[in-house]
Amino acid sequence: MRILVTGAAGFIGGNYVLFRLENYPGDTIVSLDKLTYAGNLENLASVMDDPRHQFVKGDIADSNLVEELFDAQDKRFDAVINFAAESHVDRSIDNPDIFLKTNTFGAFTLLEAVRRHGAGMFIQVSTDEVYGSLGLDDPSFTETTTIDPSSPYSASKASADFMALSYYRTYQIPVIVTRCSNNYGSYQFPEKLIPLFINNLLNDKQVPIYGSGENTRDWIHVRDHCGAINLILEKGKSGDVYNIGGQCEKKNIEIADHLIEMMGKDKSMKKFVTDRPGHDFRYSMDISKMESELGWRPAVKFEDGLKETVDWYKNNRAWLEKVTSGAYRGYYDKMYKNR
Ligand SMILES: NC(=O)c1ccc[n+]([C@@H]2O[C@H](COP(=O)([O-])OP(=O)(O)OC[C@H]3O[C@@H](n4cnc5c(N)ncnc54)[C@H](O)[C@@H]3O)[C@@H](O)[C@H]2O)c1
Repeated sequence: MRILVTGAAGFIGGNYVLFRLENYPGDTIVSLDKLTYAGNLENLASVMDDPRHQFVKGDIADSNLVEELFDAQDKRFDAVINFAAESHVDRSIDNPDIFLKTNTFGAFTLLEAVRRHGAGMFIQVSTDEVYGSLGLDDPSFTETTTIDPSSPYSASKASADFMALSYYRTYQIPVIVTRCSNNYGSYQFPEKLIPLFINNLLNDKQVPIYGSGENTRDWIHVRDHCGAINLILEKGKSGDVYNIGGQCEKKNIEIADHLIEMMGKDKSMKKFVTDRPGHDFRYSMDISKMESELGWRPAVKFEDGLKETVDWYKNNRAWLEKVTSGAYRGYYDKMYKNR
């Protein structure tokens, strides 16, 4: 397959590119990424010289650039997978503007390019957050749960989902929307809960816990998310939505406790801080459609995946230090200045 992967220098997009090229050696991938603060080209270092992979720096919301990129291809893409996004809820509360531009207008720009040039499939990578918040005893989100986003982040993602599905109905463009729960694993920017906690604990700093720490998320290892997307690409039904989840609900405080124990630290490393405004209480995914239609289930056990993730961050202190100091931003110049 020839695949356009957007947001490829980010956490999930980067893992996806590496995972796909490793498991599908006949594929070629064009990676498109704006390299915002969350985009780190070092995540793709192992495939930067691979002839099956091409990196393009650019904004998915830049219609001229996207048009040129599609024009430059000899053949149409077999798949366009849109991971590119502003993805941090806290940042969306401070500055919603860029979330609308990238997450909604960016998805629209890609859809327009697919409308004009065609593509085998457009996958809009979305999130469980579009469904809003659950109470403790509410049933899990299904694909038909009402869309009820709480934050500018989830509202901008929900808008993109609707736009993508409208392109299927109106223009018969092959589109699938995937909605996944909270991912964890290697290469995640340390502003998100698990790598933030690991980084703090590695540096003997307390881990900040919003409110009372009771907020609950369904955790999935990034490899399982990537595997689910591959299966959906192969066998998913155009025009449909698929929920992907880890079947592993944990309170934030439980995550803190797991990591503190795993990393041999003391309970006093927990610090309770003022809650996030509009903080969704609980997310929970019903994955029965993935199970019954595609025979998919998450494979990575949380304890194993978390241990592997802690080990990855311990073994990649240089990556972590460059990300926290900002030094990773020089990598693009190093790779491309003389090319
Ligand atoms: N992280 C999660 O737990 C999770 C869960 C479900 C869904 N998702 C979705 O998966 C996708 C990837 O999430 P992530 O955690 O890897 O995010 P991330 O923030 O780590 O990476 C996002 C990437 O997109 C790039 N980007 C941002 N704006 C861009 C633009 N305008 N044009 C091109 N590239 C741009 C960034 O440079 C970065 O490389 C997002 O769409 C997110 O909504 C994430």
